[in-house]
Amino acid sequence: MDYQGILDQIKNKIDCRQLSGEVATYIPELAKVSPDKFGMHLCSTSGDDFFFGDSNEGFSVQSISKVLSLSLALLYEDDKLWERVDVEPSGDPFNSLVQLEYENGIPRNPLINSGALVVCDTLISNLKDPKKEYLEFVIKVAGNPHISYNEKVAESEKANGFNNAAMVNLMKSYGNIHNDVDTVLDFYFHTCSVSMSCKELANTFMIYANHGCLQETGEQVLSVKRTKRINALMQTCGFYDEAGEFSFRVGLPGKSGVGGGIVAIYPNMYSVAVWSPKLNAKGNSTAGMLALEFLTDMTGSSIF
Ligand code: DON
Repeated sequence: MDYQGILDQIKNKIDCRQLSGEVATYIPELAKVSPDKFGMHLCSTSGDDFFFGDSNEGFSVQSISKVLSLSLALLYEDDKLWERVDVEPSGDPFNSLVQLEYENGIPRNPLINSGALVVCDTLISNLKDPKKEYLEFVIKVAGNPHISYNEKVAESEKANGFNNAAMVNLMKSYGNIHNDVDTVLDFYFHTCSVSMSCKELANTFMIYANHGCLQETGEQVLSVKRTKRINALMQTCGFYDEAGEFSFRVGLPGKSGVGGGIVAIYPNMYSVAVWSPKLNAKGNSTAGMLALEFLTDMTGSSIF
């Protein structure tokens, strides 16, 4: 497959300046990023890399981190996690409080904010130094010691994180948060603040294309069964109230973040990350969705 030729065509077909969408401003630090950034990186399981544009520039992964925190939490909690977080698509925005009250403080899934907050709560219960150990896990999966938190982004979100504070307090009132709410929020904001480029994200998510094995060493970090479940959650819940639209147009398990990144995997074949900060009304990158739709249409590589 001529992936580089196809990526070059995608780059030429998409003019980010002409597309609608707004850079996220509710985290003020994210509003500073240029709306015209656009990059894409694809890693194949055969070990080749294909890319264009700003694919080597770091950005805030935001909700994409929810897949990694879930992966680490499952190593400690296993099926006990599912007593505290459900596995159903929410059909609601990523920061919605509505279902949480109806459903007695049990989040619909681990890839919306409320679910990720419970996942962070379990990590705080299981780890001695959660921030350090989470970052070590990400570095291991990424195969890259240079990945780090962006403290400015974490602080910026903490200063404005009233909606997440409301959610964590509501869940605490239902007994579904076991640790101090400020500790949970601080850890959650740090996980979201991790900075990665498209190249680093695509490399990191190879584990989900490789049934839980690291591409470089072959080490089985996540079991095949766990990886299947995480990919299923990305497919059904990775894009909040646009998960159906992403499945319909792209047809791959994936995850978005309000930093404008999207990562998607095609099991046994590739992992791909795209970045363009202008978001549509559902909080997903406009150009990112389009680029991935072109990719799966042009390569015929959807899982469907
Ligand atoms: O909690 C928040 O609102 C952000 N740290 C993450 C949200 C996010 O990335 C949702 N993505 N589409």
